[in-house]
Amino acid sequence: MSAFYRRSAIYAAFFAPSAEIRASIDRLVRKHLRRAPRRVIDPACGPGLWLEHFQTQGAEVAGCDLEESAIVGATARLPKRGARVLVGDMRRPPDELGAEFDCAINLDNSIGHLNDPLDVVAHFASMRQRLSPRGIYVIGLAIREAKDTIPTGIVFERGPVDIDGGGFAALRTESLGLDAITRCERIRQITITANVPETPSVIAEQYDLLTFTFAMLKDILEAAGGFDVLDCRDATDEDLPTKPFRKGAGDVVLVLRAKAPSPAKAPRKSASAKRASRKHA
Ligand SMILES: C[S@@+](CC[C@H](N)C(=O)[O-])C[C@H]1O[C@@H](n2cnc3c(N)ncnc32)[C@H](O)[C@@H]1O
Repeated sequence: MSAFYRRSAIYAAFFAPSAEIRASIDRLVRKHLRRAPRRVIDPACGPGLWLEHFQTQGAEVAGCDLEESAIVGATARLPKRGARVLVGDMRRPPDELGAEFDCAINLDNSIGHLNDPLDVVAHFASMRQRLSPRGIYVIGLAIREAKDTIPTGIVFERGPVDIDGGGFAALRTESLGLDAITRCERIRQITITANVPETPSVIAEQYDLLTFTFAMLKDILEAAGGFDVLDCRDATDEDLPTKPFRKGAGDVVLVLRAKAPSPAKAPRKSASAKRASRKHA
């Protein structure tokens, strides 16, 4: 998956967060920090739509993305004021982004782009190093059990919509279902554009998004050094109602906080990592 994400203006036209979801995320963050966040990192920031949201509230923001053109878009979107956005991999965001963030945000199942559970462990382990001791990680992901099936067919269809910079586009995303072995949901997506500068008239692509069984997610969090799950919300409703954190919870937004480092737990890291990869390979 990349051709769509390389088109920052098109991505923003379809996926700019609504006023409802922004208000829900603000409530969630303030509930757990007891104030607005001061330093926010998005490790798969795309064109910086969520970073922009927090920057307008006065937070210092930083982020990275694999796609250089997404970073060009994010740089243009975020007025200087200390914003740092760099090309980088969420498995280990660049050190230059800094640390001591009181809030990390990574929504829309972006973490599913890491198809290997060991890469997810690496990601959470690096995020622990970026967060301040009371910092929170607000993350969107999918918890699905082996027996779960998901409806196949169209999951998103919109357009034509106007694109910043000129032209218009329509987007259709379909789910081809869950692969029981890889735990990935296969997504097929077609974007049709007209008069969008330097953009092909059709972008068609297919990609896989990793989902997590409940047991696998708990193993991964443990293997990454340990996170407490402070909150679990239903990501399919923009009001983000509370949802039990349990098997087959589905599409959720979790609020995580790193457990305090404990030397006694260090040897369990590799054991859990091995277990996570063995069980779910
Ligand atoms: C759904 S978008 C999220 C955009 C962003 N969080 C926002 O505020 O709009 C997913 C992003 O993940 C990026 N991505 C995929 N794999 C990545 C990786 N290993 N490291 C960093 N970014 C990655 C894609 O390029 C894409 O921009």
